[in-house]
Amino acid sequence: MIKRGKFIVFEGPDGCGKSTIAKMIRNELLDIEIDCVLTREPGGTKTGEKIRDILLNKDNIISASTEALLMASARAQHIEELIKPSLNLGKQVLCDRFVVSSLVYQGIGRNLGINRVEKLNEFAVDICPDLTIFFDLDYETALGRRNIRKTSDRMEDMDDDFHYKIHEGYKRIYSEYKEKYNIIRIDSSDKIEKVFCTAFDKVKEILEV
Ligand code: TYD
Repeated sequence: MIKRGKFIVFEGPDGCGKSTIAKMIRNELLDIEIDCVLTREPGGTKTGEKIRDILLNKDNIISASTEALLMASARAQHIEELIKPSLNLGKQVLCDRFVVSSLVYQGIGRNLGINRVEKLNEFAVDICPDLTIFFDLDYETALGRRNIRKTSDRMEDMDDDFHYKIHEGYKRIYSEYKEKYNIIRIDSSDKIEKVFCTAFDKVKEILEV
């Protein structure tokens, strides 16, 4: 019998460093011959990546509820086409963002309400992360990291007030939902190697390796 893989999610505001750390963890796991896939939201499948293009293209006008529905649609496809089949094959699934992103960005950032966005996602989602790593860092550092990026997307282009709301939103979701989504918090203002080591230790604990 194949042992089902674990589902590990990386979360945090834009500029928190989660995508870099997720790649480092994927490479390290492959090095020690642990079969894993790294994927992302919105996206992860051909259809999901098309939805991502719509969501992140700065030329598109998208209402808050449309944004929440599109995020959930991409997620539904992702779960059915990639996440669940991979877990069933015994692969470890590493995912850059998941439901918590919708609770924070659409629920809090776009003022749709955490409960409404959670309800909407119930239609799309029938799995829960075994571990969600929240990369927390101070607002000024994240702002600095975002500002040195050469390109920005429709979400990153939002004003500072929005990003501040997202920043505070993550802290709130962490304190109120950590049990529900198995969230742990890591301080990501440290040097990248140190953040990686802390995150990798948590991943190894969950994978029992
Ligand atoms: P991300 O891939 O982290 O951006 P990048 O790799 O360019 O730094 O995420 C894309 C954006 O989508 C990000 O601003 C957060 C947003 N997002 C939501 O608003 N809701 C969601 O449910 C998800 C998954 C992402």
